[in-house]
Amino acid sequence: MIGGDDPGAQFDHHLTAVGPERIWVAEQDSVVVGLTGLIVDGTSAEVEPVVVTDGERGRGIGRALVKRVIEEAGALGIGLLSVRPVGRNTAALRFFRDSGFNVLGHIEALMDLSEEREWIDGETIAGREFKV
Ligand SMILES: CC(C)(COP(=O)(O)OP(=O)(O)OC[C@H]1O[C@@H](n2cnc3c(N)ncnc32)[C@H](O)[C@@H]1OP(=O)(O)O)[C@@H](O)C(=O)NCCC(=O)NCCS
Repeated sequence: MIGGDDPGAQFDHHLTAVGPERIWVAEQDSVVVGLTGLIVDGTSAEVEPVVVTDGERGRGIGRALVKRVIEEAGALGIGLLSVRPVGRNTAALRFFRDSGFNVLGHIEALMDLSEEREWIDGETIAGREFKV
């Protein structure tokens, strides 16, 4: 669903906003198998996106992309680096925690008034249970 009906146009918009020099890809046999980027805001930056081709996951590509983007952030003098995976993406949460993101910044808590979405039991934070 990311990018809506026209993900190419959405990506072009993102590329213009972020700058092509802040986007890195992983290549295997001249084929792009991973993508990451750095959205800089003063001395802070968000790592977004980090995505590896489905069939190529679990082989160290994501780890290599994040390592590179951390190095680039350091070279730019970034002091605070963030990632914002959705709460139910436990694989990404584990991946980022193991990659060095060990501080919880803001938590976004939702109240679903529409009751149109399905939530599952998920995380315990501050001694309270949250669905994700
Ligand atoms: C999260 C993601 C980028 C990780 O990339 P990857 O190339 O599979 O990660 P790596 O192979 O470098 O794995 C790094 C570690 O994370 C673990 N890991 C990666 N994907 C995992 C998964 N789906 N489930 C459980 N563990 C996982 C690996 O076991 C590995 O641990 P290790 O270094 O101790 O062996 C990839 O799964 C992905 O593209 N997911 C979909 C997009 C997404 O959710 N992005 C983050 C949203 S902000």
